[in-house]
Amino acid sequence: MSPSPDPFQPLQLGPLTLRNRFVKAAANEGMTIDGAPTRALVQHHRALAAGGVGMSTVAYGAVSDIGRSLPGQLWLRPDILSDLRVLTDAVHEEGGRVSCQLTHGGLYVPGMKVKGALMSACAGFNKVGLLAGNWRSRAMSEDDMARVGSEFVAAAQICAEAGFDAVELHMGHGYLLNQFLSPLNNRRRDGYGGTAENRARFPVSVLAAVKQAVGTRLAVLAKINVSDGVARGATVDDAIVTARLLERAGADLLVLSGGRNAESGAFMFGSNMDVAEMRKVLGRVASLAFRIAQIGAPRVQFKEMYFLEYSRRIRAAVTVPLGYLGGVSSLANAQAALAEGFDAVVMARPLIHDPGLVDKLRTGAVAVSGCAHCNRCIPYIYHPAGTWCVFNPPNDPQPNRVRAAQRG
Ligand SMILES: Cc1cc2nc3c(=O)[nH]c(=O)nc-3n(C[C@H](O)[C@H](O)[C@H](O)COP(=O)(O)O)c2cc1C
Repeated sequence: MSPSPDPFQPLQLGPLTLRNRFVKAAANEGMTIDGAPTRALVQHHRALAAGGVGMSTVAYGAVSDIGRSLPGQLWLRPDILSDLRVLTDAVHEEGGRVSCQLTHGGLYVPGMKVKGALMSACAGFNKVGLLAGNWRSRAMSEDDMARVGSEFVAAAQICAEAGFDAVELHMGHGYLLNQFLSPLNNRRRDGYGGTAENRARFPVSVLAAVKQAVGTRLAVLAKINVSDGVARGATVDDAIVTARLLERAGADLLVLSGGRNAESGAFMFGSNMDVAEMRKVLGRVASLAFRIAQIGAPRVQFKEMYFLEYSRRIRAAVTVPLGYLGGVSSLANAQAALAEGFDAVVMARPLIHDPGLVDKLRTGAVAVSGCAHCNRCIPYIYHPAGTWCVFNPPNDPQPNRVRAAQRG
């Protein structure tokens, strides 16, 4: 058996070479103004690149205005090109690569009122839009799918023009593409519903279209759920079908996540939400709505590498490069992931806690992350200074009030 690669060895993903195997997972930074990157977002990703990550991922880039889940969310459009360019230049100056996550909320729009019913796989009552007044969803037609597919393509082209090295299509966590994959939302009786193959058809077609449009310039990644982690949701067997189809459509890397924001947050994070911190940052009503949505979801006890058993099943089924994600907490975990056959190690919370972690692991300055997986960073997505680890000195809100490309 050949030895498993060193996590600090380069990795080839389609047209892209990473200096090492460490990828910062998309984690909504809360560092945008009117959907444009702020200076804080630039500083955040510069620090990650300076701290040694092979590639950082800018989170939660909506492909259209009605694809947004939250009003201020990053929204990819031509008039933010100069702000995006400042961001990608900063990461490149530090020797890192940078990906942009592309998403469409579908019916998952908890943060603003959208006129009319929201698009999804099926029509119905929409519990996640209750607070915002988005009570109903409508089933997408093939014309809707073609339009949304072209929005993903246009957003990927903007990313290419802005200097990104990769795009990551968000197919997990309960957003539009996941609403097709998951039987929780997809009860269609046409060629886009029923079997796992049919449920994957629209998401796979989006990846194929993006790959065709930008695949020679950018690596095209997808983030998928290994399982929805909730009764009647998509299972690991469904995820294997999805992974095989995405492999065939030309994905350069699949990032393996799990869980759904509305139904199974603890499964997604491998640890429970901190309700007191949520109430402190979000207020009573929003935090209560969040708790109600999670009623019935089992509480969990954190364990390192909490998606490993599921992700192994996918590793055994495909040859496409895979990023292991979920509870990587140490150099030993990263080495174990590579020894299991995964190609990259994808981390969110440990790198929110310490953007310099990768270089510290490389030099031996530390062997274990100081992240407690307490999830107290999560409500700070909505804080004026942006996402923050409560064990660090507070973020300065000032750079989060200025667009990235603003002079002076
Ligand atoms: C503050 C915060 C924000 C997040 N926002 C996103 C997001 O915008 N898109 C996404 O795909 N995942 C998001 N995630 C989930 C992470 O990408 C990752 O799946 C999860 O934190 C588990 O990985 P970890 O154990 O390395 O933290 C977020 C996580 C955190 C902590």
